[in-house]
Amino acid sequence: MKKVTILDLKKMKEQGDKITMLTAYDCPTSRMLDASGIEILLVGDSVGSVMAGYQNTLPVTVEEIIYHCQAVARGRTRALLVADMPFMSYQVSIEEAKKNAGRMLKEGLAEAIKIEGGVNMEEVIKAICDIDIPVMAHIGLTPQSIHRMGGYKVQGQAEREREKLLQDALAVERAGAFAVVLEVIPSFLAKEISSQLSIPTIGIGAGPDCDGQVLVINDLLGLSGEFQPKFVKRFATLEPLISEAVKSYITEVKKSKFPGAEHSF
Ligand code: KIV
Repeated sequence: MKKVTILDLKKMKEQGDKITMLTAYDCPTSRMLDASGIEILLVGDSVGSVMAGYQNTLPVTVEEIIYHCQAVARGRTRALLVADMPFMSYQVSIEEAKKNAGRMLKEGLAEAIKIEGGVNMEEVIKAICDIDIPVMAHIGLTPQSIHRMGGYKVQGQAEREREKLLQDALAVERAGAFAVVLEVIPSFLAKEISSQLSIPTIGIGAGPDCDGQVLVINDLLGLSGEFQPKFVKRFATLEPLISEAVKSYITEVKKSKFPGAEHSF
């Protein structure tokens, strides 16, 4: 299958082909998702909460993203690989933002980076695009802004907020972003933004009218414990399967059933 590039994504929007994106944090998952035909793999800073057990994404470091990005890069051959810029890796100065974005490509082997923010990040996005690093923007519920938002809440509920989100979307497109994630905003607003932009919108909790969709892989597979926000659909329920397998292993070892002759030398 042909390698996916940012040019393909633009074409997909123009042709009305939906874009699929999932997070991945390790090599075997990356290999499976890539072989299944996913178009974009995101090494999200959700790695902090999903894999490291942090309370939120704020503690994630550039080094952690690079480490996971390298693992995901080894597993995939086709999907576009996007690395999330963690909190405080792009907010301090444009110079630092460019340097850290460069590290994602040089060391992490990513092909693009993702930044949270709209109008407030327009200059940063432009500066990174100007050095030929493709940028995916991310507006709406931006988890790095959890303390400003007062929790993970639907954004764009009030008319004034909706106008601001539209301005954010237009700003990131103007700055040169090749796509924008719309997270947890009303469906009708995501539809309006998607129709106004020429770059693809990738929704999560933003309804069916975005140009593509993204989910956290652990949520899709039912590997997130009890946690299930409204926008998540579990396409599998793997936790009980894993639990059963581990219980069988424990029982067989305790009863000296495993390893059998066929597993021994
Ligand atoms: O960090 C992440 O996984 C994300 C996606 C949910 C869009 O930003």
